[in-house]
Amino acid sequence: MCGIVGYVGFRQAYPIIIKGLKRLEYRGYDSAGIALLNGSLNVYKKKGKVSELEDSLTETDLQSTIGIGHTRWATHGEPNDANAHPHYSASEDLAIIHNGIIENYGSLKEELIRKGHIFQSDTDSEVFIHLIEDIKLNLACSLEESVRIAMSQVVGAYAIVVLEKSSPNQLIAARKGSPLVVGVGKGEFFLASDATPIIEYTNEVIYINDFDIVTIRNGELSILNIDAKPQVPYIQTLEMELESIEKGGFEHFMLKEIFEQPRSVLDCLRGRVSADKGHLILGGLREYLNRVNNIDRIIILGCGTSWHAGLVAEYVMEEFTRIPVEVEYASEFRYRNPIIREGDVVIVISQSGETADSLAALELARSKGAIIFGVCNVVGSSIARATHAGAYTHAGPEIGVASTKAFTAQVTVLTMIALAIANKKGSISEATFRSMLYELEAVPSKIEKCLALNDSIKELAAEFKDAHNFLYLGRGYNFPVALEGALKLKEISYIHAEGYPAAEMKHGPIALIDEAMPVVFIATHDSSYEKVISNIQEVKARKGRVIAVVSEGDTKIKTMADYTIEIPTAHEAIIPLIAVVPLQLLSYHIAVMRGCHVDQPRNLAKSVTVE
Ligand code: G6P
Repeated sequence: MCGIVGYVGFRQAYPIIIKGLKRLEYRGYDSAGIALLNGSLNVYKKKGKVSELEDSLTETDLQSTIGIGHTRWATHGEPNDANAHPHYSASEDLAIIHNGIIENYGSLKEELIRKGHIFQSDTDSEVFIHLIEDIKLNLACSLEESVRIAMSQVVGAYAIVVLEKSSPNQLIAARKGSPLVVGVGKGEFFLASDATPIIEYTNEVIYINDFDIVTIRNGELSILNIDAKPQVPYIQTLEMELESIEKGGFEHFMLKEIFEQPRSVLDCLRGRVSADKGHLILGGLREYLNRVNNIDRIIILGCGTSWHAGLVAEYVMEEFTRIPVEVEYASEFRYRNPIIREGDVVIVISQSGETADSLAALELARSKGAIIFGVCNVVGSSIARATHAGAYTHAGPEIGVASTKAFTAQVTVLTMIALAIANKKGSISEATFRSMLYELEAVPSKIEKCLALNDSIKELAAEFKDAHNFLYLGRGYNFPVALEGALKLKEISYIHAEGYPAAEMKHGPIALIDEAMPVVFIATHDSSYEKVISNIQEVKARKGRVIAVVSEGDTKIKTMADYTIEIPTAHEAIIPLIAVVPLQLLSYHIAVMRGCHVDQPRNLAKSVTVE
């Protein structure tokens, strides 16, 4: 949450920072601000989106080749101008941008107030910069040293960048628990929460480690750790393309990302699956896959959509590997005292690789001796780096806050992991293994067919856009799809929606059904088909309006449902990858018709780096 950007070099900093903040806006959009240095240290900040900040400024005032910027997802203090970043220190000689949470800010603030500090905002971040300045003045040390000492007093998570009035060629940054990337250009440096603001200028990046302090001064970069030991910067070359972070002619990132799914699933399978050869290669897991007979239990952890991908994986993994699987919200797992035994494998799923609860759950499981696999999308992210082994989803940057292509890529990777374990263990026949590989290879073209339904789904959306509630029902493999369909709708259209196992409907949700209640059934041809038909009839008997996602050629449900969406047939373990697509489109069109901000829904952020 919160996006931070910094620049120092030979170009004008303002346009680079504003553009960077727009690219990071998916991380938060409660307020935006920048600080520029040109003789004086000037802070400009405003409640609302980056464009509102931009509209309020006149570019002629903004000449500077060094600056920092921030887009906020409010934690401490309501979204208003005063709480927007950057924050000044007491003397206004320093300015800070911060992503994260300072847990002991209350006690630090009290102490600073006792010393005479006056605060302008309710934020924890302002306390950090007052503390840094207090140390700097009292110990008469450099800014870098003051940041280092402040870090030993601050408890919490942060990525910070600090600008100093008297040092026009210097940026100091530090991280603990929140992401921070440096872009290394020729005679210029970029700092950001992720690589998206950097990629159009340079693909040489350094991912900063926890407890490291970066100093960029007079065109040179150096890194110290918290013990003041110099660190050798590791420069990586990123392969991200600029087009992957642009809308490419689509009205919204979400729609673009929905339509990218044939390609993103293909990218995910590329070089890993060859059905003709009977090959399935997951290079990052190879070493551990040789030890599959030692796996007694698999625990899957994630949040939001990633948790839903984990639920699909539970069905797939138990079916093929015959290893018991548990799926848990990372936020719950980390706050109990979970039993982890030798032989347990924990799979952490995270698009961003930065979700605070998932990272903390990972660390807990690791400390108890589990083997940790990661399924992440963002290369080099904190979760990806903290695992023993893993497989990237290769879906490309996902910018829309509501996750779409990341979900299908996660399910694809998890299905590959299940099949790889099953194959090694011998819990799947050679014939089934191979036919499942063919099933996987066919997914991109089947998603393509779902995308061809876009216009008819748009018409359906027009019918239902004014509904106040929605129910999504499915059984077996399609139960997690129902959850994901409901989540997509509530996230972006603000319509209340619930996902439920269809059989559980009679234990509660059936009481809600009347002629105003749309019920979306995922009723494809699978082992629960006949049972789901009974559930559809139960809804129709109570005058509910049924939208059914059915298998191509279905005739039975057509006579019962008010609307049907026909999708290609597939093995039931593969259906979630296909059935979710029309539900993504339905939510998207309903949200657009309701005038909602699809890519940046209210109160949400893409990367939840707070607990
Ligand atoms: C946020 C996002 C969701 C995402 C969840 C988990 O809530 O809005 O789209 O599913 O975080 O994020 P992760 O990056 O760990 O998959």
